[in-house]
Amino acid sequence: MASFQKLTAPVSGSKIEFKNGALVVPDNPIIPFIMGDGMGPDIWHPTKKVVDAAVAKAYGGKKKIEWFRIYAGLDAMQVYDKDTVLPEDTVNAIREYLVAIKGPLTTPVGGFEFVCMTCAAEMNGTDGKRPEKCPKCGSEWITKRFRSMNVGLRQLLDLYACVRPVKWIPGVPSPVKEPQNLDVVIFRENTEDVYAGIEFRQGEEATLEIIKFISAKIGKQIRTDSGIGIKPMSITGSKRLVEKAIQFAIEQKKKVVTLVHKGNIMKFTEGAFRDWGYEVAKEKFRDQIVTEKELWDNFNGKMPEGKVLINDRIADSIFQQVILRPSEYSVLATPNLNGDYLSDACAAQVGGLGMAPGSNIGESIGLFEATHGTAPKYTGLDKVNPGSLMLSAVLMLQYMRWNEAAALIEKGLAGAIRQKRVTYDLERQMEGAKVVKTSEFGDAVVENM
Ligand SMILES: NC(=O)c1ccc[n+]([C@@H]2O[C@H](COP(=O)([O-])OP(=O)(O)OC[C@H]3O[C@@H](n4cnc5c(N)ncnc54)[C@H](O)[C@@H]3O)[C@@H](O)[C@H]2O)c1
Repeated sequence: MASFQKLTAPVSGSKIEFKNGALVVPDNPIIPFIMGDGMGPDIWHPTKKVVDAAVAKAYGGKKKIEWFRIYAGLDAMQVYDKDTVLPEDTVNAIREYLVAIKGPLTTPVGGFEFVCMTCAAEMNGTDGKRPEKCPKCGSEWITKRFRSMNVGLRQLLDLYACVRPVKWIPGVPSPVKEPQNLDVVIFRENTEDVYAGIEFRQGEEATLEIIKFISAKIGKQIRTDSGIGIKPMSITGSKRLVEKAIQFAIEQKKKVVTLVHKGNIMKFTEGAFRDWGYEVAKEKFRDQIVTEKELWDNFNGKMPEGKVLINDRIADSIFQQVILRPSEYSVLATPNLNGDYLSDACAAQVGGLGMAPGSNIGESIGLFEATHGTAPKYTGLDKVNPGSLMLSAVLMLQYMRWNEAAALIEKGLAGAIRQKRVTYDLERQMEGAKVVKTSEFGDAVVENM
């Protein structure tokens, strides 16, 4: 049992456990949540209301989530101290309780120097000077001194699969003619590839040494005024990711798992990812899968009943495929960088990031999150779309096998959108829609369950 510095877990709930390779979920699980910075609280409150209503309705009061507030980002600085954005308590609580959900957190992008402790507005000082007060809410500014907490959480908890389902809800504005044809779940490797953060600045001694070493060892010439980035991709990282994707496809009765790679160019990383993917498919799931080659060699192109097809596609071609032939794909397993691009491109087809849920999954831990940022200019205005966090809660409930409650939230969301009671971002693209506040959207979802 973890002991916490500043947290007290609810006494009335029980812990979710992981036994014999599966989650064991009690009827009153304790679930830690991070509200998030900026407009995080705006979307958290209606999301909590919707989840509680769905669980109560689905199980007639027999099941109930005991929410456990934990801190990260700006609220952690208030509760702990000004140097602590990701307290050990938070990491330990997620490790202990296994399933958690979070709103967006401020991360340094675009070189902002200061962030407001209250509303998460970001700005640069003039001549390196700290601004007096936040012009928006009058609170204190602090210097941004932290790197991405999202990356921190993924690394500390070894959440190696970023899982993002992309599915259209009827009525949501879409730039494509038939958005209903795209229904994919993307499994993106979360720990390696060019995201490993191993980079060498142009001109530095170590960079020049590497350039010399490569020239001497394999005779490849690199311009001496180059910067260098390292792209590690391992058997361990690739196989566990693909295994998770195939396991999911089998459990959820999906037809195809597609390995997405750029192996025609990067043979020993992306090409190896493809080869290791086929290997793990045969090692772990021999009786449940058929590879694309076997489909033609042994089955004359006709898929045997109840099996999952394992195929692969080159990364650039999959961007075409998800637009031109989306219904041929269901689970996409990708290395880190391909998955980053592909997730947003797919999300754009079904309503953008405001409606895209996300999760980071490890061996047993699942951390569910909105995929958008803190949208600081909307902090506290009760204006933004809580759809992404609500759909992340749907994923969380599915992960807990509380599928009935998850289905009720999906039904509620679909109903609110059908009635065109939507937040500003969707309203401006939908004819005849009525703009509602974030909280009112939550109420509309509950009414439609
Ligand atoms: N997962 C995360 O925690 C996460 C993800 C992305 C960005 N961020 C952080 O958030 C901060 C702001 O980043 P940003 O401005 O680049 O991106 P952002 O996603 O916060 O907002 C960009 C714009 O998108 C729109 N938008 C975003 N979410 C919306 C929603 N739910 N409903 C309606 N409109 C929405 C708004 O117009 C907003 O101004 C930065 O510190 C960034 O690092 C965090």
